[in-house]
Amino acid sequence: MTSSSSLVYVVYLLLFSLPTTAFAAKCAAPPLNLPYRNVSITPGVLTYGIPIHIGSPWQSVALTPSLQLDNTFIPRFTNTCVHNDAMPMSSNNATRRSIPLVKRKEHPGSFEENSSSDGAGKTGWEGDNWWVQCSELYGGGYAPELSSSFHDNGTNDQVRESWLKTAGFSDWHFVTEQFVLADYLDVYARTNEALPEKTNLTTSFILPDAGALFGGMGASALGITPNSTLLRALHDVKMIPSTSWTLTNSSLCLGCTDANAHTSDFQSFKPADRAADSKLPCLIQAKVEALNWHPKKGVEGATLIQDTFTACIDPGVKFLVLPDDARDAFKEIVERDVKGEYEDYIAFKGPPKEDVGILTFRLEGGLVVNVTVPGVGRVGAEEVGEWKVPIGRGGWGAYGNQTWTLGKPFTDRVVIKWDEGAKEYGIANLNDDPSRKEDIQPLGCDEFPKVEKIVTSSPGTGVLVGSVIGGFVGGLVFAMAGLWFFKRGEKGVKSKYEPLEETLPMTRIPTDRRTMDSAMSGALSPPSVRESMRSQMGSRSASPMAPQLVADNSIYEAPEGGTAYPTKRERPEMSGLGLR
Ligand SMILES: *[C@@H]1O[C@H](CO)[C@@H](O)[C@H](O)[C@H]1NC(C)=O
Ligand SMILES: *[C@@H]1O[C@H](CO)[C@@H](O)[C@H](O)[C@H]1NC(C)=O
Ligand SMILES: *[C@@H]1O[C@H](CO)[C@@H](O)[C@H](O)[C@H]1NC(C)=O
Ligand SMILES: *[C@@H]1O[C@H](CO)[C@@H](O)[C@H](O)[C@H]1NC(C)=O
Ligand SMILES: *[C@@H]1O[C@H](CO)[C@@H](O)[C@H](O)[C@H]1NC(C)=O
Ligand SMILES: *[C@@H]1O[C@H](CO)[C@@H](O)[C@H](O)[C@H]1NC(C)=O
Ligand SMILES: *[C@@H]1O[C@H](CO)[C@@H](O)[C@H](O)[C@H]1NC(C)=O
Ligand SMILES: *[C@@H]1O[C@H](CO)[C@@H](O)[C@H](O)[C@H]1NC(C)=O
Ligand SMILES: *[C@@H]1O[C@H](CO)[C@@H](O)[C@H](O)[C@H]1NC(C)=O
Repeated sequence: MTSSSSLVYVVYLLLFSLPTTAFAAKCAAPPLNLPYRNVSITPGVLTYGIPIHIGSPWQSVALTPSLQLDNTFIPRFTNTCVHNDAMPMSSNNATRRSIPLVKRKEHPGSFEENSSSDGAGKTGWEGDNWWVQCSELYGGGYAPELSSSFHDNGTNDQVRESWLKTAGFSDWHFVTEQFVLADYLDVYARTNEALPEKTNLTTSFILPDAGALFGGMGASALGITPNSTLLRALHDVKMIPSTSWTLTNSSLCLGCTDANAHTSDFQSFKPADRAADSKLPCLIQAKVEALNWHPKKGVEGATLIQDTFTACIDPGVKFLVLPDDARDAFKEIVERDVKGEYEDYIAFKGPPKEDVGILTFRLEGGLVVNVTVPGVGRVGAEEVGEWKVPIGRGGWGAYGNQTWTLGKPFTDRVVIKWDEGAKEYGIANLNDDPSRKEDIQPLGCDEFPKVEKIVTSSPGTGVLVGSVIGGFVGGLVFAMAGLWFFKRGEKGVKSKYEPLEETLPMTRIPTDRRTMDSAMSGALSPPSVRESMRSQMGSRSASPMAPQLVADNSIYEAPEGGTAYPTKRERPEMSGLGLR
């Protein structure tokens, strides 16, 4: 190299400061930090999940981020307990408890017709609350009959889905549907102060066949594995920055990570081979070196295990599955009588108390995670009630009764990330300081693209200026965006849009919507449950459903505790389902 050419080279470096970014993968989209939240899909029931809209017109389902499936699993409405219980002929009928969500031969000890035994190996969904629990779990259901964009691919063997293969479950099909992340527009507009070019896409999902069961799925899984078809599809249309993600108990950051969300360093976990060991059919495997129980914070712990054990870590399993010795030690140490042991929890006699116990897990590699278990405390002999601890026998909803699993109670206490570039998972302790500030950084790519803001203001005037990217958005939507910023009360934007509140009414409920809603809720909730839920809803805060912006310029809100449908469309199909 001559000195002049090296000078040029140095100037080049200085100008573009390229040493680290020269070969960087630019993010395909701005960050998408989706809230993982309580939503109400089925009237009166709150489901914790990532809400989506699917089909045309939209139907809502709340999904659980999961490492069980590569594809995303959508429960069929007519196959769910939610639907079946509402069938006119099955109310107050023995069949009510017999709706099998899982075939016994696939997952022995799952749903049984007979609920009169001690409950060992069953889900424990008995009595009046089982319907609510089932709805919370599956987060609603999808009725393809009602969608004009539904396409059945007619196949279930093109892609191997190891979970369903292990479960021996083949009564499902790939279907292709139009799909929207319900919070996408909201989050995008808040993050970028602009509207996205694209809000929906058409992609493939797994849908169980009519009348078929759910193959052992204990939730409606949003597959976020390295081979996730949904993340791939979102990335392909540039709706997410990369296929990397960070998951906490309150958000799923797609292509991004919040640098302030963790307190410890990330411990890395290479994705495991799901086929290598039939007892460990999962992607994140960890050796548990110590497991202690502290009946109170600060109280010295007692060990629950004699030997180390290897467990699966999966946010898609809603409970913990611990080795027998740990479960037995726990039952002994809490000094309460066991009322029942189920696949997904242990029920102890006596009501939940004020105290919070802590299960401390120490993993090989040094990570220590404290899982809180509220409700501990001595009870008197006369006290009635039930304290549920999410330590199950396994089986249904988990990887089986031989696979020790650290599910959601564990993953809610940590930050889990998948780095597509490094091809590894990372787990760190969650920063639970509620006053912490977000610091969103790219993950799996190096730099977020810049998005031109459409919502800006000249100082002091409060005037909307800017231009709309894309072009499908008309003036009304534009005004709505402003109103909606106001409603969300977002940082400083609020005052600028105050006048809009008067001019654009938020809720316009045409009469046909009302009729449809009552038809819907009639279909979805048995009267007894609905009544009790109504009263409960009064004390509970309603789900923070944002009003939706849709491209056909109709605005609608979720009715109290219900699914929102566009107001403009007639839905004569509803009568075809016998929803009366
Ligand atoms: C979600 O709803 C449940 C009740 O179903 C409640 O216990 C929980 O605190 C809620 N979580 C949030 C974040 O609102
Ligand atoms: C109970 O449900 C079954 C099947 O849904 C139905 O055939 C039967 O008539 C019902 N029995 C009563 C008493 O409603
Ligand atoms: C249900 O369980 C009871 C007692 O355990 C038994 O007598 C009865 O035959 C069982 N019914 C069915 C359908 O399995
Ligand atoms: C399903 O069919 C659609 C349309 O023919 C196609 O684009 C898609 O790739 C198919 N998906 C699968 C999983 O076969
Ligand atoms: C889906 O997005 C396209 C533009 O990408 C838009 O034309 C269409 O109206 C959208 N559909 C719905 C139901 O929002
Ligand atoms: C993802 O898919 C590829 C190709 O089908 C396969 O080789 C790889 O093992 C899969 N990765 C995981 C983690 O399943
Ligand atoms: C976990 O809990 C134990 C006992 O209360 C405490 O000593 C420890 O600092 C906690 N660790 C973390 C990471 O929260
Ligand atoms: C565990 O599941 C297997 C089949 O998957 C079953 O044969 C066995 O009885 C179950 N064990 C317990 C303790 O439930
Ligand atoms: C998440 O966990 C933190 C602490 O562990 C807690 O303060 C916060 O309320 C939780 N958030 C939700 C939405 O559950």
